[in-house]
Amino acid sequence: MSSCCVPSTYGILSKSMSKSSKLWDDAKELLPGGVNSPVRSGNVVGIQPPIIVRANGAHIYDVDGNRYIDLVNSWGALILGHRPLTVMNAVRRQLRKGTSYGATSTLEIELAKRIREAVPSMEKMRMVSSGTEATMSAIRLARGFTKRKKIIKFDGCYHGHADSLLVEAGSGDLIGLPYNDAAKFEEVAMKNASDIAAVIVEPIAANMGIVLPRPGFLENLREVTQKVGAVLIFDEIITGFRLRYGGVQDQFGIKPDLTCLGKIVGGGFPFAVYGGRGDIMDRLAPIGPVYQAGTLSGNPVAVAASLATLEVLRNRDGLYEELETHGRALQNILEKEAKSAGFSIVVNRAGSMLTPFFTNAPVFDYSSAKRSNVEKFARFYRAMIEEGISIPPSPFEAFFLSRAHDRSVIGRIGKAIAKSMEKMVQS
Ligand SMILES: Cc1ncc(COP(=O)(O)O)c(C=O)c1O
Repeated sequence: MSSCCVPSTYGILSKSMSKSSKLWDDAKELLPGGVNSPVRSGNVVGIQPPIIVRANGAHIYDVDGNRYIDLVNSWGALILGHRPLTVMNAVRRQLRKGTSYGATSTLEIELAKRIREAVPSMEKMRMVSSGTEATMSAIRLARGFTKRKKIIKFDGCYHGHADSLLVEAGSGDLIGLPYNDAAKFEEVAMKNASDIAAVIVEPIAANMGIVLPRPGFLENLREVTQKVGAVLIFDEIITGFRLRYGGVQDQFGIKPDLTCLGKIVGGGFPFAVYGGRGDIMDRLAPIGPVYQAGTLSGNPVAVAASLATLEVLRNRDGLYEELETHGRALQNILEKEAKSAGFSIVVNRAGSMLTPFFTNAPVFDYSSAKRSNVEKFARFYRAMIEEGISIPPSPFEAFFLSRAHDRSVIGRIGKAIAKSMEKMVQS
């Protein structure tokens, strides 16, 4: 969720957006910046965002009746697209049985079994209501377990908005290091060996745009944290169930001490979960001294949506292969059209999530991501929304595909990309 470059004025689209415009004024009066989460505001791309009224499959619809192919997909949560039938049916069934119990339910036990089967490093887990809550709680637990204070995170990774995790350059108990720099990490970790409670990382980074780990980077994190007795936390809130049934930890064969999951595992509802080694998790209240609680934790409607989503992801043969094929196709289109329009572009991709950086140099950490040309991206964004494609309104985010983005949808996105690049050349 990194942001940069905030233009002061909003652009006007030629699309009819009169109702959105009027409502946007109300939104700004009532909600800080008109939004309930900053990146939605369109500040970075200098445009007033459409106000959304409904969504279905691969599409979202605004209040003026404009339809957009959605490449944001609730910031990666909706791997099955909007309103997948099986999830909707599970939610409807659950609504008849109650919306919140405030007690352990059969559904929670079933879901915990299902999650542990998919991500075996999560021997025990605690369900919460947002990704921020999961990472914040995992950090507090790691501090309670190790009785140490310092946390290492990597610049450009986002782990929610808890105070202790929002510092970019590092301050006090938080040390910020460049992503993918194993030598630097090892040097700093060894120097602070007896003080480090936890190292938290997005094992494939998606919040500075997509950045893949270099070979050996994650393995080094595992080795060094074991050496210094620090808790290794994989924040798989974006990557969990995105690239395979399980997580990046399964793909790389690395077992973190704690894992945070959110987004996809919530089936489109406010839900997240953190978990890991039993001896660490058992430090949580009521059996341990680390207090963490939640009125709506393990909410049965969210848990029903989660179970239904995981059921599809586990059983639908070829789903991840299909997502990979469509992701690759979208990458090829972006590279081809940028080349023929004369733009330098680097597309970083992991399966069905990708980021086009307007730059000619490889992007492997936050500094190299920031070399991406924000003004060009903003023009691309504006052209794409005119063509009916909703991409993230920031150059440092990921485009997400879902099961609903089939070949014909990819074809339509391809045509829009070609037209948008052409328009950018002419403007
Ligand atoms: C990797 C990662 N961790 C944590 C969070 C925070 O999750 P939430 O927005 O549900 O609080 C996000 C949100 O985008 C994220 O991408």
